[in-house]
Amino acid sequence: MTVDRQVVQAFEERFGAAPAFVVRAPGRVNLIGEHTDYNDGFVLPLAIDRAAWIALRPAAGRAVTVHSLDFGEVDTFDLDRVAPQPGSWANYVRGVAWALQQRGHALAGWEGVLAGDVPLGAGLSSSAALEMAVARAFAAVGDWPWDPPAMALSGQMAENKWVGVNTGIMDQMISAAGVAGHALLIDCRSLETTSIPLPAGYAVVVLDTATRRGLAGSAYNERRSQCEAAARHFGVKALRDVSVSQLEAAQADLDPLIYRRARHVVTENARVLQACDEMRTGNALELGRLLDASHASLRDDFQVSSRELDAFVEIAAAHGACVGARMTGAGFGGCAVALVEDEGSPAFARSVAAGYMARTGLSPRVYVCRATNGAEIVA
Ligand code: GLA
Repeated sequence: MTVDRQVVQAFEERFGAAPAFVVRAPGRVNLIGEHTDYNDGFVLPLAIDRAAWIALRPAAGRAVTVHSLDFGEVDTFDLDRVAPQPGSWANYVRGVAWALQQRGHALAGWEGVLAGDVPLGAGLSSSAALEMAVARAFAAVGDWPWDPPAMALSGQMAENKWVGVNTGIMDQMISAAGVAGHALLIDCRSLETTSIPLPAGYAVVVLDTATRRGLAGSAYNERRSQCEAAARHFGVKALRDVSVSQLEAAQADLDPLIYRRARHVVTENARVLQACDEMRTGNALELGRLLDASHASLRDDFQVSSRELDAFVEIAAAHGACVGARMTGAGFGGCAVALVEDEGSPAFARSVAAGYMARTGLSPRVYVCRATNGAEIVA
């Protein structure tokens, strides 16, 4: 049964009536533009056909009650006294309620059933999907217009200040604002978005290495500080404001490690903008080359890849149907993404999964993705 059917059926069993709303918010895969969001730069993710779903109805009073089908648990809290629930899925629900109120939204109570099919901890932004589904539920109950940047900022505030993970804005923005059939160019400074059609005849394939590494780890924060140090050197707000030629000119004055970190960010921003041009003119081969270059930069300059990610990218890139591949998300584990000729994609999926298993002994997952809308009321 599909997840939307599951939440509706479970809602009807529990509450003896049909839900007033069914909302969904998707996970994401980032095509290109990695570790650029917290540098006020550019990213190009797509919302995928895996999502968090909530069937709900307004409730009298100030209580929010959510049944999680995936965890077999119920969480109830009072909107006037939101308390943390560390380590639980419910902490994300509570964190979003807290952040929305901090940012001035008037919230009303509701009750509902939640389920999702974004694999947890795989680097496909299951937590952003949950956050944006909860925001979409509050917006539906309060009857406010959906404002993706405002909702994404609330989700990010929940993540940074409530859950305590210092991530950028990309994951919440794409989950809030995705457009079916398109990738979304996000300017992470202005939060302006432009939808860019995916190249016809090509599939976006996610390659899950079956290795995991939590974001709370120190490496992500360390990369952020190194980028900030580089921006300080140039006297600018963020590396977004530094061009490739400015960086090259300053190489001798920069600590070699800081220089390499900055070179990744500065060249990656340029690759994202070029990727958009290639997509607008339908040049999938050139887009693929940019994915390959992004991976090399993340591996060698930013140093956030892993043995498994490198192996999967190498195996994918060697397949005849693949025009480009790279690690996606924060790195150190999780997923890679490949751009693959549509026709060859089922054979590609089988062949690279077998190749990866033979090389690493790990059982990977391979998903051929469809680009979907961002958070929406579906019924
Ligand atoms: C994680 C974070 C994002 C972004 C990526 C790296 O997914 O949540 O904000 O920084 O890493 O591009």
